[in-house]
Amino acid sequence: MGGEPAKWVSMVTARTPTNIAVIKYWGKRDETLILPINDSISVTLDPNHLCTTTTVSCSPSFDQDRMWLNGKEISLQGGRFQSCLREIRARAQDVEDEKKGIKIKKEDWQNLHLHIASYNNFPTAAGLASSAAGLACLVFSLAKLMNLKEDNSQLSAIARQGSGSACRSLYGGFVKWVMGKEDNGSDSLAVQLADEKHWDELVIIIAVVSARQKETSSTSGMRDTVETSALIQHRAKEVVPKRIIQMEDAIQKRDFPSFARLACTDSNQFHAVCLDTYPPIFYMNDTSHRIISCVEKWNRAEGTPQVAYTFDAGPNAVMIARNRKTAALLLQRLLYNFPPQSDTDLDSYIIGDKSILEDAG
Ligand code: DP6
Repeated sequence: MGGEPAKWVSMVTARTPTNIAVIKYWGKRDETLILPINDSISVTLDPNHLCTTTTVSCSPSFDQDRMWLNGKEISLQGGRFQSCLREIRARAQDVEDEKKGIKIKKEDWQNLHLHIASYNNFPTAAGLASSAAGLACLVFSLAKLMNLKEDNSQLSAIARQGSGSACRSLYGGFVKWVMGKEDNGSDSLAVQLADEKHWDELVIIIAVVSARQKETSSTSGMRDTVETSALIQHRAKEVVPKRIIQMEDAIQKRDFPSFARLACTDSNQFHAVCLDTYPPIFYMNDTSHRIISCVEKWNRAEGTPQVAYTFDAGPNAVMIARNRKTAALLLQRLLYNFPPQSDTDLDSYIIGDKSILEDAG
């Protein structure tokens, strides 16, 4: 007996893609629990592209919780991170791994410290939903580490408390965040509408108009909108509920013209409520507007939509092409009209399916 007890490290790594809303979440009815004022629908990107990779570890030799984001240590004091951690620790189970000599009782999780390392393979906080992938990945990997029994939908309600849009990244394919009715948020969670194979001919191309961090965060932007915009109430109560039903239908039927029209008009209305906020919020810039005109002109000339666009809280354009052929044509047009690193102020493109580069010539 005696001597130092054996020290061990238990570790889990997970990778979670970001998601792009085609019917937007904008506005909260509860800031602490992160409860939205409307349902939203998103498409989760391919995990090979915009994603976060997170490794979580615990060991009796760690004396405090620590986290590194893209190699730089960051503070864990934020209320949102602590809420997620509290919720996960409360559901933690026993963990036993005889080979590694690990035996953790569920009550031990209250005192075991964590080390967390997270990497985004895309610009952080530039309107590419980095918080969505980040928080979803954190909750998922901690849930595996602590052996939680909850399913992805129940985990989504925890990720939601880290960042609203994160709850939708717990699933692939098309996902709906149901706003819920309960004051405690227990029914405000993500459900999968269709998996990633359901409509796999769609190709996503993202024009990184600017990889700089956005000036107004989503959190403060939507708070200002709820406080000052008259339009947001109309949007949340009248417009979005109808669009949600229509969008679910378009996804089930793979009806691209309806899908594109709904996604584009919803993005435009989201930016309209930003403009209706006082002081106004401008997330899009001239290049974003020119990209919209380019896509709209093309869709009109074709007589039926070939490409949908949507913009989150930043100037970057997310474009969804109806198939690979259209994606190749879109890329040609974009490269011609908006060559990267030129005076168009466009940084780069992220292409959902790289093999379309061959088709694009
Ligand atoms: C424009 O989820 O980043 O991307 O809940 O305050 O963390 P918080 O906000 P966040 O907002 C995302 C807003 C959006 C639209 C969307 O993803 O639905």
